[in-house]
Amino acid sequence: MKHSIQLTVNGTPQKVEVESRLLLVHLLRENLRLTGTHIGCDTSHCGACTVLLDGEPVKSCTLLAVQAEGAQITTVEGLEKDNHLHPVQEGFWEKHGLQCGYCTPGMMLTGCALLARNKSPTEGEIREAISGNLCRCTGYVNIVKAIQYAAEKLRAQ
Ligand code: FES
Ligand code: FES
Repeated sequence: MKHSIQLTVNGTPQKVEVESRLLLVHLLRENLRLTGTHIGCDTSHCGACTVLLDGEPVKSCTLLAVQAEGAQITTVEGLEKDNHLHPVQEGFWEKHGLQCGYCTPGMMLTGCALLARNKSPTEGEIREAISGNLCRCTGYVNIVKAIQYAAEKLRAQ
């Protein structure tokens, strides 16, 4: 059975027909071709699929697309504005916060959500915020530095 849903993705209103069982991550990747949102597991553990739903980080593999009816979704493709990287993106670049990059979109969105509610997070608060996002490459040290860089940059704006 198909449902017609409306949602806003990266500021663009979308009206789509989806099956009841379609996951939000598949709507984003397959229907809308926003492949920056990754799938890294089938157990809801890795966080590679993290997007913002009305500003809150959610694992898009654990939500049905129909549950996003009326929501504002932000994916990694929506972070850059007017050809300028978001401070979190800049932080990952400047502090070498990635290696393979598979976890990076989810890490960035989790970082954005943290900084939206806490402009001066401690290292412990950053580590707690990203505890639902797994990285197999970096050891997390430079990811924490990237988010600290972004926090400083956002405070200066
Ligand atoms: S793909 Fe791993 S938590 Fe969603
Ligand atoms: S950079 Fe490879 S999984 Fe995080």
